[in-house]
Amino acid sequence: MRKKIRLQPIENKIISKTSIRKRNLELANQINSDYADQSVIFLIIANGALIFGSDLVRLISVPLRFDTLSVSTYIGAESTNTLSLNSQLKVDITNRNVVIVDDIFDTGYTLKCVVKIVREFNPKSIRSCVLISKRKTRQINLLPDYVGFEINDMFVVGYGLDYNEDYRNLEYIGELSPSIYK
Ligand code: IMP
Ligand code: MG
Repeated sequence: MRKKIRLQPIENKIISKTSIRKRNLELANQINSDYADQSVIFLIIANGALIFGSDLVRLISVPLRFDTLSVSTYIGAESTNTLSLNSQLKVDITNRNVVIVDDIFDTGYTLKCVVKIVREFNPKSIRSCVLISKRKTRQINLLPDYVGFEINDMFVVGYGLDYNEDYRNLEYIGELSPSIYK
């Protein structure tokens, strides 16, 4: 009888739960000091940034509101070139400070499109915060204002990040084994 081989989905642990918690606090402290005496609206890009965003907003001490924005650009481990907006804003961001929160900055296309959409609501200011940025050359001239971690160009999952909707619940960030998506 042939033995069933179970594939190990996570190749390497890249960022531990403890490091994420520590870095979130540092990011929140930076945002708290940058927006001292002001209020902020956090636009959390769902689903990827839901876990990061919900941890981050609980560390913010300036007055805030948050909303989620649902967009999708990825199918499997390949980037597609179309961004679809699947939800509408419930909070009014006109003349307000907005911080867009995303899980990972890869080609930068998602953030670029979201910034463009958000700008149409005439907010007072727009900044962006990503948990992870991949070290790579990009075609776009936009960088996130707040970055949790820089990693080499690889496909990672966990802490909200998925591969075809799986692995979002891992408490750490891990490199997905290429055997899973090849
Ligand atoms: P970008 O538009 O290429 O910057 O891609 C950003 C979006 O693609 C993120 O919000 C993620 O949803 C997804 N993405 C990019 N790289 C990864 C990855 O390594 N793991 C999981 N999702 C990723
Ligand atoms: Mg995704």
